[in-house]
Amino acid sequence: MNRNFNFPKKFLWGASTSAHQIEGNNVNSDWWQWEQKGGVKEPSGIACDSYNRFKEDFLLARKLNHNSHRLSVEWARIEPKEGRFDKSATKHYQEVLKTLKKLGLKTFVTLHHFTNPLWFSKKGGWENPKSPEFFTRYASYCAKEFGNLVDYWITINEPNVYANESFLKGTWPPQKRNLISLINVYYNLAKAHNLSYDEIKKINNNFMVGLAYHFLRFRHEGRSILGKNVTNLLNKIFSNFIYSPFKKSDFIGVNYYLTYKIKNIIPYFDYEHGKFEYFGWPISPEGFYDLLIDLKKYQKPIFITESGLSDSKDKYRKKSIYLHLLSVYKAIEKGVDVRGYLHWSLIDNWEWHWGFKPRFGLIEIERKNNLKRIPRKSAYYFAKICKSNKLVPLDNMHT
Ligand code: BGC
Repeated sequence: MNRNFNFPKKFLWGASTSAHQIEGNNVNSDWWQWEQKGGVKEPSGIACDSYNRFKEDFLLARKLNHNSHRLSVEWARIEPKEGRFDKSATKHYQEVLKTLKKLGLKTFVTLHHFTNPLWFSKKGGWENPKSPEFFTRYASYCAKEFGNLVDYWITINEPNVYANESFLKGTWPPQKRNLISLINVYYNLAKAHNLSYDEIKKINNNFMVGLAYHFLRFRHEGRSILGKNVTNLLNKIFSNFIYSPFKKSDFIGVNYYLTYKIKNIIPYFDYEHGKFEYFGWPISPEGFYDLLIDLKKYQKPIFITESGLSDSKDKYRKKSIYLHLLSVYKAIEKGVDVRGYLHWSLIDNWEWHWGFKPRFGLIEIERKNNLKRIPRKSAYYFAKICKSNKLVPLDNMHT
């Protein structure tokens, strides 16, 4: 096939972040309180101080040729007390979004990225039957206050990951392990998404609203029919069935990180393309392609809202970007409507219970040097892609 490796016109290129992971001092949130009580070895503290240094971050993104950016606004700052919306936090986020707009970047705004206001969690958090209404009140406030500065709304980030970590595995606050709670929370998150979708659209029907969903994949290797059927079933469960309550959306936000390979019926990790530091996940671009092809059936625009790896030495990042974008390119060739790619993450951040060790940033944060921002080599490679709107081959790799 004769390929030019050009991406569609107006393709969006950029990176993603989330408030609690980079802003610092998110004192009115449930995570902050949990961290202070010893929930994690390394609390978020000042994080990357992006609450104050956001302009510096955005200027770097612009210099690296990004034309879009995903961030989250923090519910615990905007509504620190129940029903009381904070003017200065609202003004702050308006300023943040205006800065991006002035730099010519399209904005993706997430309303919930794992953290909750303390008052909300004291009322039972996502187990409270009223939680969808609480969230929707906040979402509709944001739509009114930030509306003209937002290009794409993401109601909730990875409801499946949040519910799983907080209510099944018990790693994140409120650290429960209870199947009934898990199902209840999942139901409330879906209800919150659907209700807030309607409310945001009521404010302006032209707003583009979706969510960012974590798609886990399985890929069968070998000849076993049983293995193949098991793999298909797992993909149906993880990419279709569990996702189905969230289908009220104008686009699909895809967060993709890994694929489990399955030989016969045994799952394993294939490290052919390298390994994530600390997480131990494999770099798995093939499953990404399978997923995008699978999502074609929904007939909706797709944005890759997260894709990346932890790699402090920047050993695999270039190759990983290349291979993942090759999967995106091939999926587009097959008619999948992918319209943007946002790398996770712009800068090294606070990686939840892992602390600061995993390094996902295109830009390194020197924690011992006043949080200095230093773009990694891979950031310059990605910048070439963003500028040319074309998949730039790796020096030592041919396709
Ligand atoms: C989350 C991010 C997180 C990333 C890497 C995603 O599931 O949305 O907040 O930093 O994975 O762990």
